[in-house]
Amino acid sequence: VNAAPRGIDRVREALDSHDGERIDLLVGTPCFPPPPELLDALARAAAAPHFDYAPNQGTPGLRQAIARLHAREGEDVDAAQVFVSHGAKVAALVVLGTLLQPGDEVVLPTPCYPAYRKLPRLFGATVRTVEREGPPFAWDVERIQEAIHDRTRAVLVTSPCNPTGATLDPEALRALVDLCRGAGIRLLLDEAYTAFRFDPSTMGSCHVVDPKSEVTIRLRSFSKTYGLCGWRMGYVLAEPQLIERLTWFQASHVNPPNTLIQNALESAIDVPASYHAVALESVRSRLAAIVSALGATPLSMEMPQGGFYALIDLRDAMHSTGHASATEFCRSLAAREGVAFWPGEDYGAPGWARICGAALETPDFADELSARVRRFLS
Ligand SMILES: Cc1ncc(COP(=O)(O)O)c(C=O)c1O
Repeated sequence: VNAAPRGIDRVREALDSHDGERIDLLVGTPCFPPPPELLDALARAAAAPHFDYAPNQGTPGLRQAIARLHAREGEDVDAAQVFVSHGAKVAALVVLGTLLQPGDEVVLPTPCYPAYRKLPRLFGATVRTVEREGPPFAWDVERIQEAIHDRTRAVLVTSPCNPTGATLDPEALRALVDLCRGAGIRLLLDEAYTAFRFDPSTMGSCHVVDPKSEVTIRLRSFSKTYGLCGWRMGYVLAEPQLIERLTWFQASHVNPPNTLIQNALESAIDVPASYHAVALESVRSRLAAIVSALGATPLSMEMPQGGFYALIDLRDAMHSTGHASATEFCRSLAAREGVAFWPGEDYGAPGWARICGAALETPDFADELSARVRRFLS
């Protein structure tokens, strides 16, 4: 295990040394509260006597409730296609542990969520990265195809993307599904941010991917969609035979997720659409405020198509301020101005930094952000 400090650890250290008020844009914690219906449901679930392990696939009630949620979006999903786990990250670990043997390979377009560069290695597999150029950091299906060879087991794509904010359009998604079907491998789609697409035409996999497909493995998370990162709950949608193997892996190595939380989600998962609309707008408005605040500085950032995040190009500013890496730049900015950006090196994006819009307490902080960045660069 490589336990070397990450760029973010070094920025956190620098931020701790800053005395004044901080503008911390590091972690993807939602800026909106969870639905009150779910908090009430948890109180009710806690009052009932549930002390046993849940089934390893997830409770039948929650899996049926998830299937109904997808039916509302017009997707025909069976409870047998649903596997519940401790958030999307553990779900990804279970999927990769189930799919991979030593010597296998996963094709990973970068910049990407840091865990995805490491998780396949836990199982003796390697990661073949395919760099995306940005902005707009679109997925180049031809280059992904070139990276596939006989030991490739999966292509791993996150849309909307953490850290770029790019979102797959329906044609690219179809092309990726066809490519993986032709190669006899899986398309692992991380949809943790699918509820946060600012342009609805950049659809999620819904209506594009056949929910009964034997190719796709879709990861969903309650962390961002319902503002419930701490409840540690997410699920996988895949074909039933794979779901059985995931269930075996969870039973053998992980054990099932929390029964109370599953029961609470089962009874109140179907929150009003207005909840999701307000959550989306609170993230979108903060990101837009950051785009306009940085527009008044030598740094710039494009409005992402979805998700919580965007990348800022630091290359010119690194050069003019004499910082050799994004990590060094972000450390100085955090120590001197109390502004924390996540260095791009952790995402496979050297020369860039990631910000989380959802981390900003209110969009009003954006002007202060702009003033501090200008002062740092002057
Ligand atoms: C792309 C992506 N996938 C998965 C996760 C983790 O989700 P969960 O909290 O459900 O484990 C995150 C969290 O930031 C993420 O950005």
